[in-house]
Amino acid sequence: MGFAKYLIEPRLFAGLPPDWRWVFGRAAPLVVEIGFGNGEFLAEEAARHPENDYLGFELTLTCIEKACRKFHAAGLANVRVVRLDARFGLRELFADGSVREVIVNFPCPWPKARHADRRLVNEGFARTLAAVLESGGRFVLATDARSFAEEARDNLAATGCFVIQGPYEVDGEPRTRYERKWRSKGLAIYRLVAEKKAAAAVERIAEGKMPHARLKAELDKGDIPRRVVGLKEVWPRGAFVVKEAFVAPDRDEVLLRAFAADGEFHQQFFISVSRDRKGWIVQLDGATVPFRTPAVKRAVFAVASALEKESGT
Ligand SMILES: C[S@@+](CC[C@H](N)C(=O)[O-])C[C@H]1O[C@@H](n2cnc3c(N)ncnc32)[C@H](O)[C@@H]1O
Repeated sequence: MGFAKYLIEPRLFAGLPPDWRWVFGRAAPLVVEIGFGNGEFLAEEAARHPENDYLGFELTLTCIEKACRKFHAAGLANVRVVRLDARFGLRELFADGSVREVIVNFPCPWPKARHADRRLVNEGFARTLAAVLESGGRFVLATDARSFAEEARDNLAATGCFVIQGPYEVDGEPRTRYERKWRSKGLAIYRLVAEKKAAAAVERIAEGKMPHARLKAELDKGDIPRRVVGLKEVWPRGAFVVKEAFVAPDRDEVLLRAFAADGEFHQQFFISVSRDRKGWIVQLDGATVPFRTPAVKRAVFAVASALEKESGT
């Protein structure tokens, strides 16, 4: 299990963005790879550049395990990975001007129009890059999908913050699984490089503090599901819904399964409604700590207010 040390859980951190010097145990230039797949490129780069620290974003657990095994086998100390949508992670986990380079190799192109909102290099991501990259820092994209690279270029150009080269065709030995796959089919490979020349501002929405609310009301735990399951709110930048409730048979606690959306970033989590010596409290349940975003906080406080309200009438 030595490989497990590479996977970090920023959801549990008390403050965001994390102090990467604390995570890596030193101050070094930060390089990010998004969607590292089996991790071969990330492992190779981290070994080739011991002077840098590397953070990889990936969604798939199998990929994370494969990559971490490679890091462990190579004895790497300068790489960590996070299982998180990089569109959210890059913005929330890095301070302005703190990243030397962001690399994306063969992102899912999502060519269908109805999947356009899943594409990585959208307008928000371009602004995030313009915020988190160091001045002179670079975004480097490799893809077989020329139209994806062109859309990325247009979104980056719209920020007015980059000097952009490409997309242009490149040769060379494949360095990732997907590059091998596409080259073996005879497809052209394109590269896009954007160098940061000016900064953009982005709003960060996650914080470390855990939302909780003490209730004045006395509750009947058997009645809680009826009162809060189905509770939902939708507003321009987010939404939440409480999906179901589990009543603990042996203690004063009800667990609520909830979904929250902050723009394109979705989370599922549990809210606990429980009784201690001081009375009833509504808080995030520790088993599934989500990022404390506006939608998550709003869900916790809406549950508290629904329970307080009906009890008071
Ligand atoms: C087509 S594969 C490419 C993998 C690898 N870079 C390569 O070239 O072989 C794309 C990878 O990006 C990951 N991915 C897709 N969207 C992501 C996102 N928003 N954040 C982080 N990883 C993502 C997927 O899980 C998948 O492993």
